[in-house]
Formats: sequence, C-alpha cells, structure tokens
Amino acid sequence: MKVSVIVPTYNERDNLEELLERISRAMRDYDYEIIVVDDDSPDRTWEFAQKLSEKYPLRVIRRTDEKGLSSAVIRGFKEASGDVFVVMDADLQHPPEKIPELVKAIEEGADIAIASRYVPGGAVKNWYWYRKLISRGAIMLGRLALPKIRDVKDPVSGFFALRREVVEGIELNPIGFKILMEILIKGRYNKVVEVPFTFGLRKAGESKLTGKTMIKYLKHVYRLMRWEGELDRLIKFTLVGLSGVLVNEGFLWAFVNLLGWNRILANIPATELAILNNFLWNDLWTFKDLRRNPLWKRLLTFHAAALSGALVQWIVYAGLVYLGIHYLIANLIGIVVSFIVRFLVNRHVTWG
Ligand code: GDD
Ligand code: MN
Repeated sequence: MKVSVIVPTYNERDNLEELLERISRAMRDYDYEIIVVDDDSPDRTWEFAQKLSEKYPLRVIRRTDEKGLSSAVIRGFKEASGDVFVVMDADLQHPPEKIPELVKAIEEGADIAIASRYVPGGAVKNWYWYRKLISRGAIMLGRLALPKIRDVKDPVSGFFALRREVVEGIELNPIGFKILMEILIKGRYNKVVEVPFTFGLRKAGESKLTGKTMIKYLKHVYRLMRWEGELDRLIKFTLVGLSGVLVNEGFLWAFVNLLGWNRILANIPATELAILNNFLWNDLWTFKDLRRNPLWKRLLTFHAAALSGALVQWIVYAGLVYLGIHYLIANLIGIVVSFIVRFLVNRHVTWG
C-alpha cells in the first residue's frame, strides 16, 4: 500500500524542514510520497519546499488561482497517487510519528482513521479552559445537528487518514471549512476509528484560523444539514408541531363547548390527541425513512420527548422569570428551547 501524505501550507517555511525530516523518519518502512499544497505563500514556502524535494519524496503544488485550507486538501487528493491518503498540518501540532498508527488502522480494516483529541488518551496542550469549552461545544453542536457523525468524538480534526475510495469521485465542497466533517458526511465509508493524540504547540509562525472561524463553522454545519436533508426534517417537524396546536385548540374547544367538560381536565385528552396527531404525521412524513424502532417504542419515546420538552419549557420559564425577564418573553424562549429538545430527542432516539 502506498501512502500519500498531504500537507496544506501557508507561510510555513520555518516548520517545513523539521516536518519533512520527521515524516521521512516515521515513514521509512513505507512506500510513500509527500504532497505540499501551498497557496503562493508570501514567505515563499513553495520555493523552499521545491528545494527540499531533492532530499525527500516530495511534490510541491504552488497554487496561485485558488486559496483556502479545504480546497488545498481537495487538490492534494486529486494529485495523490497513493492508496491511502493522510492529511496533516505543517506546523507540527500534528506529530508525524502518529502517521504509522493511522495507516495501520486503515490496514486493519478502517476506511477512515482520525487522530483524535477527544478519545481517552488524547489531549490538547496549553489551551485555556474557555478555548476547550468552545471547541467541545462546537463539536457537540455538529454531532447533534448531523446524526451521521454523532459517534465521532473529533470530527473537526485536521489530522486523519483514509482510503482513496472514500473520496474518489465524490464532490467535496471546497468552501467547506472543516474538510474532515465534509468527508464524514459525503464520503463513501463504513468504518471509522479514532486514534488518540496530543494536539501540540505550533512550532513557528502563527495560526491562520482566527476571527470568523466560529461563524464559518456554523455556516458549514448548516450547509451540511441541508445537504443531509436534516433541515427539511426540521421544517417538517415544525409544520407538524403547528398542526398539533390546531388539534389541541380544536379539541379543547369541542370538549368544553360541545360536550360541556371541565376546562381544566378537558385539556388533558386534548393535549394527548395533539401528541398522537404529531406522532402520526412525523412517523408518516418527517421521519418516514427512519422507522427502525418498533411502533410501541416510537410511541413511547415520542411521549417521553413531549414530556421532557414540557418540563424543559417550564424550567427555562421559571428560571428566566426568576432572573427578572418578562414572563411572556420567558415563555417564548422556553417554547423554543423545548422545541429543540423535542426535535433532538425524537431525531436521535425515537427515529434514531
Ligand atoms: N494551502 C493552504 N491554504 N494552507 C493553509 C491555509 C490556506 O488558506 N490556511 C491554513 N493552511 C495550513 C497551515 O499552513 C497549516 O499547515 C494548516 O493548514 C493548519 O492551519 P493552522 O493555521 O495551523 O490551523 P489551526 O492550528 O488553527 O487549526 C488546526 O486545528 C484545528 C482543530 O482545532 C487545523 O488542523 C484545523 O483543520 C483543525 O480543525
Ligand atoms: Mn496549527
């Protein structure tokens, strides 16, 4: 098996020599090539790389027409001749000594092997707690929004290996910010494994991912949700929810005005009928492709979701009122939070 190590670079001249030396030492038992994809760096990384290609099995691609980390990696895929592709950063935050472990995981049957900060044994060096919190929060959000990757602990890692077939002939979006996430959603694969590693400190130079990173990430998650059809589901779930409001109000009115029932008690069967209405339409429409659990289980967890949604709504409401927020606004926020909770419980459990 031939391995192609793809390294996107932008102003990484001062890291290049050590990087190549350590890769070549780690890969001495392998048939391999290194592909540096440089976006015409002002520090002339490409020029220095070309010089080093006399010493290492290295190909340098200097792009002048395009820019961006993801598109550089995609370009690397197109140029690579190996059976296994490894993607890594040039700044030595990704230890080259890990590459053989990733390749071994592929040899043992994985289609994608991720060097992961968030499996036991993995770590991040020198990050403040809030930096970790943001990273964890962003990943949690991605995993909740995209059920396909919910079992992956570090879907935004920039250090991973994959079989050529995973991405060959697949259209990857180059503005996609996190290339691994793009691959995990659109690629062709069965088995993913995560290998722990410590995300080290940058050797020289500075990070290019600053400022708008978080917004770009949210946009990417949103785009992938749309691509996956998860956004359509969310819209359908909303419409079904609105139909439930009509059912609830309609039956409440009928029970009180036509049958003369007690107003307080009449809302219990009216609510239950609305829940059944919502279940029916979600089962037949919103999640019709995901009816894997037996009917009784779907019904049960749907009710559990409704109940926990109501509870969450009330807790948020009580909390916000206690904090001095107007009770109608507090309730509105409670409704939105409850809605999200219900959608997620149903998406991941009822029709998970
Ligand atoms: N060709 C090219 N074009 N390369 C780029 C570009 C670009 O526009 N922007 C960055 N790179 C290269 C850098 O030179 C480096 O080799 C690698 O991509 C990662 O860039 P950094 O600027 O060091 O990113 P980071 O350390 O903030 O982020 C890393 O960790 C994240 C996880 O926390 C990256 O690996 C991310 O992909 C990863 O999600
Ligand atoms: Mn870095």
